[in-house]
Amino acid sequence: MTMVESIKSFSMDRFSLKGKVALVTGANQNLGMGYAVAFAKAGADIFCPHFTEDVSEVKALVEAEGRRIEFIRGDMTKHEHIKEIVDACMAAYGRIDILVNNSGTNCFREFTEFPDSEWQRVIELNMNAVYYLGHEVAKIMIKQGGGKIINIGSALSYTADAMCPAYVTAKHGVIGITRSFANELGKYNIQCNAVCPGFLATSVNSDVSDNKEYYDKITARIPADRWGRLDDLMGCMVFLASDASNYVNGADIKIDGGFSTTL
Ligand SMILES: NC(=O)c1ccc[n+]([C@@H]2O[C@H](COP(=O)([O-])OP(=O)(O)OC[C@H]3O[C@@H](n4cnc5c(N)ncnc54)[C@H](O)[C@@H]3O)[C@@H](O)[C@H]2O)c1
Repeated sequence: MTMVESIKSFSMDRFSLKGKVALVTGANQNLGMGYAVAFAKAGADIFCPHFTEDVSEVKALVEAEGRRIEFIRGDMTKHEHIKEIVDACMAAYGRIDILVNNSGTNCFREFTEFPDSEWQRVIELNMNAVYYLGHEVAKIMIKQGGGKIINIGSALSYTADAMCPAYVTAKHGVIGITRSFANELGKYNIQCNAVCPGFLATSVNSDVSDNKEYYDKITARIPADRWGRLDDLMGCMVFLASDASNYVNGADIKIDGGFSTTL
C-alpha cells in the first residue's frame, strides 16, 4: 500500500465497536461502568462479571444506548470462577472481541501489620485473575482471528504508595502481564495494552481519598489540578478496543492529568 493509499484508507469508522462483544469485569460500578457505557455508545454489547449485587445502574445506562448487557455474579479470587465467566459469556453471545480486566481491590494497612491473607487476596484478584482470565479469553480470540485485551493498571504500576504493598506489587505485575501477552499474542492479531488511571475517588481508595489531607496532597501533584473523572478515561478505552489501535500492542497509557510528571 502506498503512503497515500494508507492515508485514504483511514476513516472514523475504525473507532466503531459495532457488532462486538466486550467482557468488562466489575462493570456494574465506577470505572468499569464507565468503560462499559463507552463501549455501548460505540456499538458493543456487554458482558459483566460482578461481585457486588446491584447491577441496575449499568443495565439502565447500557440499555439506554440500545445495547444488550448480560451478567454473572461471583468471586474472581476463586480460580474456578474464571472459567465460569468465559463459559457464560460464550453461552450468551458466542464470542468475545474485547476483554477489560478491571476488577480490583486494595488493602491499606501499616506495613509491619500487613496480613498475609490480604496480600494473597489482593494479588489473587489484581494480578493472578488478570492472567487467568486473559489466558482463557486469548484462546477464544485466537480461534476468532483477533481481539483486544485491556488491563487496568494504576499510577501505582510505576511507583509505590505507603501502606498498600500488595496493590503496588500487583499493579506493577499488570504491566508485565500486558507486555508478555502482547509479545505472545500479536501474531494472532490480538493486541494487549494497559490503561493506568491516576486518581479517581471510588471505593477502591476510599480509605485514603476520604481523608482531606491525603486528597489535597495528591491534588497538589496533578498538573490538571483535579482528580480524574470517568469521561477522562472513556475515549482512550474506545480507542484501545477498536480497530483504530491495531498497531498499538504492549503499551501502557497513563491517564493521570500529568501526575506522573511531577516530583
Ligand atoms: N479509582 C482510582 O483512582 C483508580 C486508579 C487507578 C486504577 N484503578 C483501578 O480501576 C479498577 C476499578 O476500580 P474502581 O476505582 O472502579 O473501584 P471499585 O471498587 O468500584 O471497583 C472494583 C471492582 O472490582 C470488584 N471486585 C472486588 N472484589 C472482587 C472479587 N473478589 N471478585 C470479583 N470482583 C471483585 C468490585 O465489585 C468492583 O466492581 C481497579 O482495578 C482499580 O485498581 C482505580
